[in-house]
Amino acid sequence: MRARLEAGQQEIVAAARRVMLRCDELARVTASETGIERVYLSPEHARANRLAAEWMRELGMSTRQDAAGNLVGRLDAADPEAPALMIGSHLDTVLDAGRYDGMLGVLAALEVVRLLREPAGDAHRSPFRFAIEVVAFWDEEGTRFGKALLGSSAAAGTWDDRWWALQDAEGVSVRQAFLEFGLDPARIAEAARRPEQLVGYLEAHIEQGPELHRRGESLAVVSSIASARRFQLVVEGEARHAGGTPYDMRRDALLGASEAALAVERLCRAEHHIIGTVGQLEAFPGAMNVVPGEARFSLDLRGELDGHRDEVWSALSLELDAIMGRRGLRWRADEVHNAAAVGCAPLLQDVVREGIATTLAPGADAPATLFSPAGHDGMSIGAITDIGMLFLRNPDGISHHPDEDVSTEDVAHGLRALAESVLHLAAERG
Ligand code: GLV
Ligand code: MN
Ligand code: MN
Repeated sequence: MRARLEAGQQEIVAAARRVMLRCDELARVTASETGIERVYLSPEHARANRLAAEWMRELGMSTRQDAAGNLVGRLDAADPEAPALMIGSHLDTVLDAGRYDGMLGVLAALEVVRLLREPAGDAHRSPFRFAIEVVAFWDEEGTRFGKALLGSSAAAGTWDDRWWALQDAEGVSVRQAFLEFGLDPARIAEAARRPEQLVGYLEAHIEQGPELHRRGESLAVVSSIASARRFQLVVEGEARHAGGTPYDMRRDALLGASEAALAVERLCRAEHHIIGTVGQLEAFPGAMNVVPGEARFSLDLRGELDGHRDEVWSALSLELDAIMGRRGLRWRADEVHNAAAVGCAPLLQDVVREGIATTLAPGADAPATLFSPAGHDGMSIGAITDIGMLFLRNPDGISHHPDEDVSTEDVAHGLRALAESVLHLAAERG
């Protein structure tokens, strides 16, 4: 087994260029003519898996699509029963997405395999006592059904049967979508991995905020991932004539929802590391000359700590009672996603830190350690194995937007750091 990465800088830069080109190639696998849109259990899901599976096989990996539609490539160790280090991220996107959120982590994992693998006859194998798996999860974003982390939850064995009934905007349920995609809902448990099959999970991801950009640094160790709850809220008032209804008779649901959105901002801004976003808002019946009788809106609420996030939700609920009470409205909330905060394992934080250190000039400050307010598949996978994450600088920090960016140079640093992290982990495990 190697103690240090043998690949030269040229090889790493070539690998980084390949990552960038493949991000462009995946960006062309889209349901939208004007941007990137690749959601769970769609024809684009199948196309992206086929493409990524070809790239895995090119590296001598065996491939399979699991019972939830996640793609797994594996490079066995000398002992084919050995547990695996999973490295990866997700291939699904938000609407009108950027080309790096998720995809970068899957493609970086493939290049790390290329840099580390050892030829063994015609095939290739892991140079470690553990196997290496590259995993491309699906539905980290929750774009189609509202509930995020569906694929990685299935892999963690925490699938909840209530999710079968969730529906997309066209009224297609998760169960129906599985069948249309060619997956058998009755076999969902087969996607579950057992802790003894795994050594850990590593993920490289662009930072989805400006911290690294502000610090002028390429890479960071991630300490933990924020807890998240998502709600669909409905406000009920009364639809009436826009001209004929005096203000004292109006029960305008849209104004109630708007005041609620402002309350979300006010309450969250007053707290440390609590962030709330109203990203969807619709008025019904939706006519210019009718006072809105109903409004529906979403709430995405995140916090560093579950308890603190839940306290803010309780305070918000009281505030919504007061707002709606004043306006003669009723409100209700359906919770569609609830994920606890997950800490990155101290050992994996250490190996990622050591990996990043190999990219720094002698005497440079220790790499930054950042908390992730953005969600990641490690939130589910943390239930069955240790997780570790590496962030790459994203100029200006913009994400969930077509302008999302990362430089080839930072990707090269990221590849070296990730490959060195794996070598450090292997050395730690003896
Ligand atoms: C996924 O990127 C999320 O944080 O919502
Ligand atoms: Mn995302
Ligand atoms: Mn992501």
